[in-house]
Amino acid sequence: MTSETLQKARDFEAHYGPLIPPEERPAFHATPTIGWMNDPNGFSCYKGEYHLFYQYHPYSNEWGPMHWGHLKTKDFLRWERLPAAIAPDEIYDASGCFSGGALELPDGRQLLMYTGVRRERTPEGLLQDRQTQCIAIGDGVDYEKLDTNPVLAENDLPEGGSAIDFRDPKIWQEADGSYRAVIGNRCPDESGAILLYRSDDAITWTYEATLDASHRQYGLMWECPDFFELDGTQVLFTSPQDMTPIGLEFHAGNGVVCLLGDYNGNTKAFTRRRVQAVDYGIDFYAMQTLLTPDGRRVMIAWMQNWNTVGAKPHGFRWCGQMALPRELHIRDGRLIQTPVRELEQHRGRPVIHHHIPVSGEINLPGVQGRIVDMTIDIEPIGRDSYRCFRLHVAKNGECVTTIRYRPDQSTMKIDRSRSGLHHDIVHTRTFFVRPRDGALRLRVILDRFSVEVFVNDGEQAASAVLYTPLEADAISFEADGTVMMNVEKYDLIFEEEDKAQE
Ligand code: FRU
Repeated sequence: MTSETLQKARDFEAHYGPLIPPEERPAFHATPTIGWMNDPNGFSCYKGEYHLFYQYHPYSNEWGPMHWGHLKTKDFLRWERLPAAIAPDEIYDASGCFSGGALELPDGRQLLMYTGVRRERTPEGLLQDRQTQCIAIGDGVDYEKLDTNPVLAENDLPEGGSAIDFRDPKIWQEADGSYRAVIGNRCPDESGAILLYRSDDAITWTYEATLDASHRQYGLMWECPDFFELDGTQVLFTSPQDMTPIGLEFHAGNGVVCLLGDYNGNTKAFTRRRVQAVDYGIDFYAMQTLLTPDGRRVMIAWMQNWNTVGAKPHGFRWCGQMALPRELHIRDGRLIQTPVRELEQHRGRPVIHHHIPVSGEINLPGVQGRIVDMTIDIEPIGRDSYRCFRLHVAKNGECVTTIRYRPDQSTMKIDRSRSGLHHDIVHTRTFFVRPRDGALRLRVILDRFSVEVFVNDGEQAASAVLYTPLEADAISFEADGTVMMNVEKYDLIFEEEDKAQE
């Protein structure tokens, strides 16, 4: 039965969603049907298609009582809109259906596990959230919440665990048919931990272990965990809140952290060996992964975070987008991320410039646009041939976003302070890169309202939303000194784009 709350959301999005013209959205990044989007939820394969749910408040461009919006795709690029999946319509989730996961059951139904939030007044008169894990089961469009919800509550926490911050279950099925969930929690020291739960039927869950904890080193609450094996390494992802900066690797506030290590399935012990940031740009949070039938581990994330939500499209009826899904690997003990390979099928109108010496600022014929896939190789001409290289995108007389590389420091800086946003929020981020003999490769993806940079074939990634007017479509290259450059630039072509240009 569709509740009144869910029906209202479905009617609202069905009425207003189609009024948004396609050119007011990115060409291939996922956006909400209408209103607000934050975290990806339930990113998983169901009946041969990839489903993506998302934290959704259809009625405004602000966060509000959380519903789950729903999209599906065959290629991670073209998203089909489905009606909102669940709404906050039960006592145990009246304050919101927070983030969670999804999987296909052996009987062909789709199971969603999410955090139900209920706001209560404490005996001291304070308002406090209670968070429990709940299940809804359906056919890929309509879902019924279990009568037995919540399936995990305060009593299922390890000693000292917090019932206030107990959220974001990510669920999967193991090869032996049993199920696992990782869930974010808080320890008595107020900082985050990731709990592991097990189930034989995906309905009844029991606590197994605490996989890792922040101990106040990597932020406070650990949100949105994910846990999987990748190229022989065990990966634990989390999105911490309230990080303290650590060098140029982690900035203050909401971060994204990748813990690499080993996992012993018998003792349930995760041994952390290395920690790195996942995205070095401005807008990236709450990532989730899935495993494709052809064995690829693909990650998606909310291309924003709680500290940068002031970066909003002005006058639009939607707010929030997902990052371009990335294929993950481990190389030399580090996380490698590359845009999903499906993107290459949309490359058209190639423009290739080889061996271009750059000294001062130059434009190149055919190199402009806001829906672009461009690879740039830069190489010094002898020792100390240049002090700085800058790539300018989304540029006109007024606006520009700059990606700057300084070989003397091995730093890259992404700067969108003049991208047309009128809010004084974080607009720059600097990070270390690893040049090879002074050479660097950048792959830059533009999709109207964002830029995503992949350094050295995916060694590092940096994302930022750009709500720059679309007329600002110039691209230029600049060097202090002289640098040798190769550029390979494609327009990314989708059917809708072609129609719009006819
Ligand atoms: C992460 C998060 C989650 C929570 C959701 C609420 O961005 O704070 O922990 O489930 O957003 O919308």
